Amino acid sequence: MINDIKNLRSEIENSLHSVKDAIELEQFRLKHLVQKGTLRALTDRLREVPKEEKPHVGKQLNELRQFVEAEYHKLREVYETAKEERNALDLTLPGRTLPKGSLHPIRQTIDRMTDIFIRMGFEVAEGPDIEDDYHNFEALNFAPDHPARDMQDTFFIEHKDKVLLRTHTSPVQVRLMKSMKPPIRAVMPGRVYRNESITARALAEFHQMEGLYINKNVSFAELKGTVIAFAQQMYGHDINYRFRASYFPFTEPSAEMDITCFLCKGKGCRVCKYSGWLEVVGCGMVHPNVLTECGIDPEEYSGYAFGFGIERVAMLLHGIDDARMLYENDVRMLRQL
Ligand code: DAH
Repeated sequence: MINDIKNLRSEIENSLHSVKDAIELEQFRLKHLVQKGTLRALTDRLREVPKEEKPHVGKQLNELRQFVEAEYHKLREVYETAKEERNALDLTLPGRTLPKGSLHPIRQTIDRMTDIFIRMGFEVAEGPDIEDDYHNFEALNFAPDHPARDMQDTFFIEHKDKVLLRTHTSPVQVRLMKSMKPPIRAVMPGRVYRNESITARALAEFHQMEGLYINKNVSFAELKGTVIAFAQQMYGHDINYRFRASYFPFTEPSAEMDITCFLCKGKGCRVCKYSGWLEVVGCGMVHPNVLTECGIDPEEYSGYAFGFGIERVAMLLHGIDDARMLYENDVRMLRQL
């Protein structure tokens, strides 16, 4: 019996050596490890072994079984990983498409707008979101009791030190004029904040793009030419536009430009509130008080400034009639833009 065990062990060792693939391994299992296999057959013969030899023979049999099972599992692992690797490298499978992200419509709009202004010779500048009363209001010629300073509109961070979230991108103008010598020609996109209730037309956090040009002999005609050229490149050369007189503390004279609503082509619809016109930009000649405050001599230099609401531009571009939709981040909508 001991001899038979030894023989079976060497037979098994030999066939283990010659196993080359998963199929041969399975054949090995069927021959040795199943109910009717060689190992079981030998174990069954334990009955014939004299009682005093049984512990010894039994031990040998056990060791053999443990050895065979361990070797079998080792090989099985080898062939299984090989199979997985083969699957992973199956070059005949069609390629997996990776989900593709895209730029948010606001980012796309900022990029399109800055591209147009860069082609017209503007640089791009940025300023901080957290501002102080001086840059956001005072240097921009807002009277101390101007309603825009009201707590209803402004998010104050520290009332005592007049630290606030900027309510417009105009403070970046101030920072540029104080840090550069004219000529200055830049657009300044960024996030702005207002303490307003959120509706289809108003958000508490939105984006603006400020523009500034300071040089000798800058005229209102140049301002008009610049914003008209911008609007034509953004919305098409066939748009109609009009300028209306307006008021901003930091510009004099001030104006707003409207374009014909491109959704209804001027007939009147929900988006243009049935007027046929859409307001796109506030602008004007930089107020002499602002130039002086920023260290630029208004006798020597003049300049214009303008401010776009970027959500507005994006809504007009895509025919969106509710500003909140831009921030719901519903992929069904984002995928269309
Ligand atoms: N800062 C203005 C606002 O938030 C927009 C604006 C109007 C900016 C006229 C300008 C400008 O630079 O000239 O409503």
